[in-house]
Amino acid sequence: MHILKALEKQDQEFVRGSGAMGPLDDHLYMHHMPYSYTAEQIRKLRTFIYHMPDRPVPKVIMITSALPGEGKSVISSNLAIAIAKGEDQQVLLVDCDLRKPSLHELFKYPHSMGVSEILQGKADVSECLISTSIDKLTVLPAAKEPPSNPSELLESRKTSALIKSLASREGNWFIIIDSSPIQATVDPKILSDVVDGIVMVVRYRYTREAEFKMALEALPKEKIIGTVLNAVDELPVKKYTYNKYKYYKNYYNR
Ligand SMILES: Nc1ncnc2c1ncn2[C@@H]1O[C@H](COP(=O)(O)OP(=O)(O)O)[C@@H](O)[C@H]1O
Ligand SMILES: [Mg+2]
Repeated sequence: MHILKALEKQDQEFVRGSGAMGPLDDHLYMHHMPYSYTAEQIRKLRTFIYHMPDRPVPKVIMITSALPGEGKSVISSNLAIAIAKGEDQQVLLVDCDLRKPSLHELFKYPHSMGVSEILQGKADVSECLISTSIDKLTVLPAAKEPPSNPSELLESRKTSALIKSLASREGNWFIIIDSSPIQATVDPKILSDVVDGIVMVVRYRYTREAEFKMALEALPKEKIIGTVLNAVDELPVKKYTYNKYKYYKNYYNR
C-alpha cells in the first residue's frame, strides 16, 4: 500500500516550549508549530490531495482507520487547518464519530448540536456550525447528546443529502470528515458512499497488518487516496534520506 506521509510522534514538551500555545489543543501542530516536520508533512498531504493524477480534486474527504486511537481526529483536524490556510479555501471539518466525538476537545468548544441533531430533524445546519479561531475553518460537531443509534442515523438517506448540501453550501467548501474506526463500527463504510476520497491512518507500532488489511477491504478501493503513517518515533533513514536533514534539525531543536 502506498504510504503518503509518515508523521512524527510529537513530543508535547516541544510544543509547549515553542511558546506558541493558544486556546486550541496542543495536537493542532499546523496551528501551534507551522514550521515543524509534522506540519510540513501535513502540507505535503494537502499538496498531494490537490494534485492527484488522473482525477479531480476530491472535495469531500473522510479520514478513517482500523482502530480507535490511531490519530484520525488529530490528522483530520491538522489537514483541515492546512487546507484552510491555503488561498481562498473555506473548510468544514465534520465530526462524524457520533459515538466518541473528539473535535470539541481539540478545538475547545462545549458539547453542542451537530450531525446527530441535524439527521434527527432537531436542528438546522446553520445553528450547529462553529467558527473556529482559525480563519476559514468551520466545524460541525457530532452531537450534543450521543445518539442511541448512530449507525441507523448515518445509514439514512439524509446523510448523503446532508453531505451534498454541505458541499455546495456557500460555494465550494472543502469537507473533511473525521470518522470512527472501521473495526468497531460500520459507520465509515456507510460514509464511504458519500465521500470523494478516503485517507487511511495507521499508527506506527500499534496497528497489526491484518487489522489494516481488513479495514482496507471494507472500503471502496477506488476512493482510497492513500495512507498516513502516524506517530512515528523512528524514521527509517534509508527511505527518508530526503527528509533526513529536516528530521534531525527538528530533533536537535527540542
Ligand atoms: N502524531 C502524534 N503525535 C503525538 N500524539 C499523537 C499523534 N497523533 C495522535 N496522537 C495522540 O493519540 C491520541 C489518539 O488520537 P486521535 O486523533 O484522538 O485518534 P482517533 O481519532 O483515531 O481515535 C490522542 O489523544 C493524541 O494525543
Ligand atoms: Mg477520533
